[in-house]
Amino acid sequence: MTEQVKGISLPAGRFQAIISHCKEYGFIFPSSEIYDGLQAVYDYGQMGSELKKNIRDYWWKSMTQLQDNIVGIDAAIFMHPTTWKASGHVDNFNDPMIDNKDSKKRYRVDHLVEAYSDELRAAGQEAKADEVIAEMERLLAKDDFPGLKKLIEDNKISCAISGTCNWTDIRQFNLMFSTEFGSTVSSEDEDNKVYLRPETAQGIFVNFLNVQKSGRMKIPFGIAQVGKAFRNEIVARQFIFRMREFEQMEMQFFIRPGSQKEWYEKWKTTRLEWHKSLGIPAEKYRFHDHVKLAHYADAACDIEFEFPMGFKELEGIHSRTDFDLKQHQEYSKKKQQYFDNDIDPATGKPYGNYIPYVIETSIGLDRMFLAVISHAYEEQDLSLPAAEAGQPEKSDSRVVLHLPAKLAPIKLAVLPLTKKDGLPEIAEQIMKDCRGEFRCFYEEKDSIGKRYRRMDALGTPFCVTVDHQSKEDQTVTIRHRDSMLQERVAISDLKRIVLESIA
Ligand code: GAP
Repeated sequence: MTEQVKGISLPAGRFQAIISHCKEYGFIFPSSEIYDGLQAVYDYGQMGSELKKNIRDYWWKSMTQLQDNIVGIDAAIFMHPTTWKASGHVDNFNDPMIDNKDSKKRYRVDHLVEAYSDELRAAGQEAKADEVIAEMERLLAKDDFPGLKKLIEDNKISCAISGTCNWTDIRQFNLMFSTEFGSTVSSEDEDNKVYLRPETAQGIFVNFLNVQKSGRMKIPFGIAQVGKAFRNEIVARQFIFRMREFEQMEMQFFIRPGSQKEWYEKWKTTRLEWHKSLGIPAEKYRFHDHVKLAHYADAACDIEFEFPMGFKELEGIHSRTDFDLKQHQEYSKKKQQYFDNDIDPATGKPYGNYIPYVIETSIGLDRMFLAVISHAYEEQDLSLPAAEAGQPEKSDSRVVLHLPAKLAPIKLAVLPLTKKDGLPEIAEQIMKDCRGEFRCFYEEKDSIGKRYRRMDALGTPFCVTVDHQSKEDQTVTIRHRDSMLQERVAISDLKRIVLESIA
């Protein structure tokens, strides 16, 4: 018994369709929606929180459990304010912004120019788009703000709201959110000012020696962390791609000074392999080397993913030198050194004391969610041609999420064919046997076809139907989400089949 896949349709508004799907099926809701939402803040619903957790767990396992020399921590969001002075975020975590004088709308300069280049590309002017981006990157690298303003004006880049090119000069704005600790007399009181961390990385740096000493870690070793980060993004758009509150999965790998090139290349390869291990085709990813390096890096690149709106940054890999630990040593007046008693072949003596260098891998969990769900989303035309359907042609379609089974929110749906004749009892027994191992879902309402469609839309890889034959021979029909193929299997084999698919 099979349903037929005739064709695939990818409508122009595919991104919009994915956003609607996320809301309709409980993956993602606008935050505080009853008050009309909060810009660039989102809530994960009953399905989204499961999918997000599974992505987080997959990353965590591959970065800690499957590594000999990487451990995880969970540092606080609030950190001593000097942390951000030392890290350079107070002085340097700025983005060049420009305001439109007519609409009073503020734009991040790179986003404004990127949006213009996207328009050029959509109009088939690829070469011109590349030229504009290259010029922007050249000017950004030199912090040449008059040059950037001229680029915007020369290309007649206009405000999406007023439609005019009446721009202010370009200025820097800091992206960190701040609040106050304790009971303050004045909100201007700098002593009480604390920041919501704009990256999780600093929680790792300030704990470098705690972990190294308590865990007796030997260089090279890594510290991984997953947690919330906050940035006051000015142009926050594109759904969960750019949020004001988001989650990062970061790993700092501490190494000997001088070995950074080798480890940087190793981590580039390792991270790309991790992405490919999810079964998403390699051509969906590409590396983009940074021209303008962040204040802490001596080499940096992005792994870009082909999102519905084009190739964009998904993950950053940065060679951060000894910048952060050196800064924390200076500001805290506490040594951040490691004693390396391995023998240096060049001198025949131990490497001795040094501040380690760091390679960082940093991926946004929400961005990874968007990558996974946008790749998984498909609208399929299942219509049967007239010859097969009998007249007239039978039209049918489905929306399916081809999520990797290990990431799917629900692994197995258990569906009794009817609500009577002892079938629910068999289905409930299957639930009892399997739910301790993986997430199952029980449903007896509506026709089997409708129930299959709902499970396809949630990305559930397996549905089992309990029917009258199940009572006689202890078998069920298992239906595979992607192929829609159905086969008869023993109930006793179910757990193994699902577990093998998510191993
Ligand atoms: N510790 C280094 C760091 O934070 P980054 O390139 O600024 O580097 C790393 O951020 C990753 O965090 C990005 O590749 C992206 O996946 C994610 N990210 C950054 N800003 C984000 C935002 N506003 N919304 C969602 N994800 C974001």
